[in-house]
Amino acid sequence: MSTQSKVRRITAPQITRRKGGDPIVSLTSYHAHTAAIVDKYADFVLVGDSLGMVMHGMESTVGVSLDLMIMHGKAVVRGTERALVVVDMPFGTYEESPAEAFRNAARVMKETQCGAVKLEGGVRMAETIRFLTERGVPVMAHIGLTPQSVHVMGGFKTQGRKETDWDQHFEDAKAVTEAGAFSVVLEGMVEPLAARITKEIPIPTIGIGASAECDGQILVLEDMLGLNPTPPKFVKVYGDLGGQIEAAVKAYADDVKDRTFPGDEQVYR
Ligand code: KIV
Repeated sequence: MSTQSKVRRITAPQITRRKGGDPIVSLTSYHAHTAAIVDKYADFVLVGDSLGMVMHGMESTVGVSLDLMIMHGKAVVRGTERALVVVDMPFGTYEESPAEAFRNAARVMKETQCGAVKLEGGVRMAETIRFLTERGVPVMAHIGLTPQSVHVMGGFKTQGRKETDWDQHFEDAKAVTEAGAFSVVLEGMVEPLAARITKEIPIPTIGIGASAECDGQILVLEDMLGLNPTPPKFVKVYGDLGGQIEAAVKAYADDVKDRTFPGDEQVYR
């Protein structure tokens, strides 16, 4: 019996080789059924720690645990067959030391079977990124607006509004590149800064609220589907899932009240 699976998943090095080529398509997903749909069109699926807010009603990503990421990571890996699955390392599971980061990232990879992890931070996380990649863990970096630092930043603020801050962002981008990250998310950054970083580093940049010049884009699936009543300003909303779900729930409630559900087709005789 062959031990090879039939469909080959996209790998982290394949994403790196897309630098400057066809734009990289990605979305978040936290659950098997939506992941199966996203899998048809996305190069990678991110199991983002935004699931704390989207799935669990938290106020920020700070409360998300490793167990929660692993549970949703497993669901997304089961629901997909071709896209690379990247799982976020949640707050408090990688910052203390490279060894702690490796222990937790290895657990994420073993238990979910994902192909890479993502962590937030530039220069300050470079040593950890190097430690992980040298030990077999592909790392996607995440710089600019880093939501896990919301309490230090004092809110979700667009980065690079003052040109005097740009050097720090360039330093972050260069540091994660040199440390071996296979790509980097640029979140909540003024457009010209994201475009310049994209030009200057040799790994793909994945923009969210950044620039169309990035090598790829990512959005939170529920935001672009119209499930979030207050999506961030930069989100283009492609669906009205909130409206459709509400209409369906109301129609069902009306049927139940009218005793037209279950109808003849829905009962066992
Ligand atoms: O957690 C998340 O969904 C993310 C994306 C917004 C990049 O990190």
